[in-house]
Amino acid sequence: MNKTIAVIRGDGIGPEIVGEAIGVLDAVAAKFGHTFTYREAPMGGNAIDAFGVPLPESSLKTCLESDSVLLGAVGGPKWDAQPPANRPERGLLQLRSAMGLYTNVRPARMFADLSAACPLRTDIAARGIDFVVVRELIGGVYFGDHSTATVDGEQKATDIMSYSEHEIRRVAHVAFQMARKRRRRVTSVDKANVLDTSRLWRRVVTEVAAEYPDVELLHMYVDNAAMQIVRDPSQFDVIVTENLFGDILSDEASQITGSIGMIPSSSMGQGTRGLYEPIHGSAPDIAGQDKANPIGTILAAAMMLRYSFDMAAEADAVEAAVDAALKAGCRCGDILLGGGTAIGCREMGCQIRSRI
Ligand code: IPM
Ligand code: MG
Repeated sequence: MNKTIAVIRGDGIGPEIVGEAIGVLDAVAAKFGHTFTYREAPMGGNAIDAFGVPLPESSLKTCLESDSVLLGAVGGPKWDAQPPANRPERGLLQLRSAMGLYTNVRPARMFADLSAACPLRTDIAARGIDFVVVRELIGGVYFGDHSTATVDGEQKATDIMSYSEHEIRRVAHVAFQMARKRRRRVTSVDKANVLDTSRLWRRVVTEVAAEYPDVELLHMYVDNAAMQIVRDPSQFDVIVTENLFGDILSDEASQITGSIGMIPSSSMGQGTRGLYEPIHGSAPDIAGQDKANPIGTILAAAMMLRYSFDMAAEADAVEAAVDAALKAGCRCGDILLGGGTAIGCREMGCQIRSRI
């Protein structure tokens, strides 16, 4: 097969980790007889420096014309003083919205070889951590009006959170369909005791659930969910929630696996084109030092193979290569426990590539 992949290397460690993911994709292409063509799409702080805006038109066009998009990470302190409308993160939000990527999937799974990195009590971790956060990605307060004005002699800021039924319904369907391929349990997270958007969320998710009688639906308030994720994460299979709650809970979920550097994510809409990225940020403190862990990005590339290109065997090969490298003791600094020597980003990429 021939596939075109838009590549957003981004800022900080982004270029290093994306370079290793591309190396792994090339190894897959060679082994399985595919051709992957990469097209650069600058976005984020580097695009602000080069083009004056975080998401140049030409980059958006490249993404929309490609079969899928691979992204490292964007942002960094260098661009903190940018006006809100021109921050690196803005480029990412614009891209998600323009590509119609309403579903963000972030798995929280503990790697058997890394269970010692789990920060939870061992009896809690022993029950297992294997759930996914399905986050609505292009609605809610992220995309409501934002304003700051002077009122009665002081500054007053406002952010509008709104949801329409169709925005809730489409992501709810994704969650239920995913649960059918897993342990058939959806936990819908909201704040229906306070927010109108949450009351609508709960009603619509409950309606959608009627189409999936084989899947169990539970509702949970977001504050309780934040607590339950550390109290007993084994109770979760698929969590579905709105944009801001999902942002927060998915960071918490990744951290309890002990390896935020290893968790990939996919963002999809209608159709097969998706945006794939690790869930961690651009880590400017270690940028350019060959210290970053490329596994999150490599596993994101595996998700791309599986979900956008329907290449299950190829995705399996990448995931198996990652597992084998970990089994062989390969560790970057972030997952090095109790001694041993950390390997660099390039070496980790090489170790995984050689096992494809
Ligand atoms: C994420 C990030 C982004 C978000 C930022 C960079 C805008 O935190 O992908 O979770 O809040 O969605
Ligand atoms: Mg986040």
